[in-house]
Amino acid sequence: MLEQLNSIEQEGLAALEAVNDSAALEAWRVKYLGRSAPLANILGDLGKLSKEERPLVGKRGNEVKRALEAALEAKTEALRQAEMEQAMTAGAVDVTLPGRPVVRGRLHPATIGLRLLYNVFAEMGFQIFRSREVESDEFNFELLNIPAHHPARDMWDTFHTSTPGVILRTHTSPGQIRAMRELGENGAKPIRVILPGMCYRYEQITARSEIQFLQIEGLAVGKGIRMTDLKGTLTEMARRMYGASVRTRFRADHFPFTEPSAEMDVECFVCGGKGCGVCKQSGWLEILGCGMVHPTVLKNGGYDPSVYSGFAFGMGPQRVVMLMHGITDIRYFLQNDVRFLEQF
Ligand code: DAH
Repeated sequence: MLEQLNSIEQEGLAALEAVNDSAALEAWRVKYLGRSAPLANILGDLGKLSKEERPLVGKRGNEVKRALEAALEAKTEALRQAEMEQAMTAGAVDVTLPGRPVVRGRLHPATIGLRLLYNVFAEMGFQIFRSREVESDEFNFELLNIPAHHPARDMWDTFHTSTPGVILRTHTSPGQIRAMRELGENGAKPIRVILPGMCYRYEQITARSEIQFLQIEGLAVGKGIRMTDLKGTLTEMARRMYGASVRTRFRADHFPFTEPSAEMDVECFVCGGKGCGVCKQSGWLEILGCGMVHPTVLKNGGYDPSVYSGFAFGMGPQRVVMLMHGITDIRYFLQNDVRFLEQF
């Protein structure tokens, strides 16, 4: 019996040497390791053997089985390798073909615009301050010198929530109060911050206005800050964004939280100021509102307005990007149409 096992092993291993395709390999497996192979029969009939023979034959039988199984596994792997090599050299895989292009991810144009502005202001010493999008009426309006029933409230059509007094911010300006209170150390420390983020207005959606849009607010508070600081800072920003020779102009305006208030225009870089469709023939593009922080607002932020002064500004970075690239419709920013997004 033991001899029979030895010859099954020898014969099996020798036969496996000659196998060189998967069909032959399967035939070999059935013949030597299948359910009715001689080896299986011997192991199946152990019970018929004498007490002395049984352990010896059982042990040897299992050894042979393991040896054949190991050899089968090695052969399977070898055949797989050989087939792959053959397929490659036979030209089934042309390794010189160019690969399929991988589509690269990219930044959203609004993010690109924000980052450009972050860099410009960071170099001028402004730190980013994140303020909340869900605001109170108090911060969004009252502390900014816009009391209830003030006609200026009509400028900001508001989304209210089901909780009275809790709204979606209509501009980033309420962040001014939070920044002064959180960073100003009770009116003792000068601050210089920009406040980027989403704002919401309950308005008709058009090519020029979305109900959801970005703003960047800027605020500098310190001793001896003057209108010339405001003009210098914003003119430098415009030069960095639109080119060193770009001209700017400030027009008087009104905002309840600044006094005096102004609007800044940059020279239309499409026509160089001559007048074209983009600037509606005026030669100028309006890009932001600004002014000297109103004494009441400084007070609400914890500062003594007889000692401290400051300037503030607010702009729409999406508009800045639209002007840079000649984008004519603000709705593209939220539609997520890849034909738009992949141009940046
Ligand atoms: N909050 C104003 C708006 O959304 C923009 C603005 C104007 C912000 C003047 C300012 C500012 O900080 O000084 O229309």
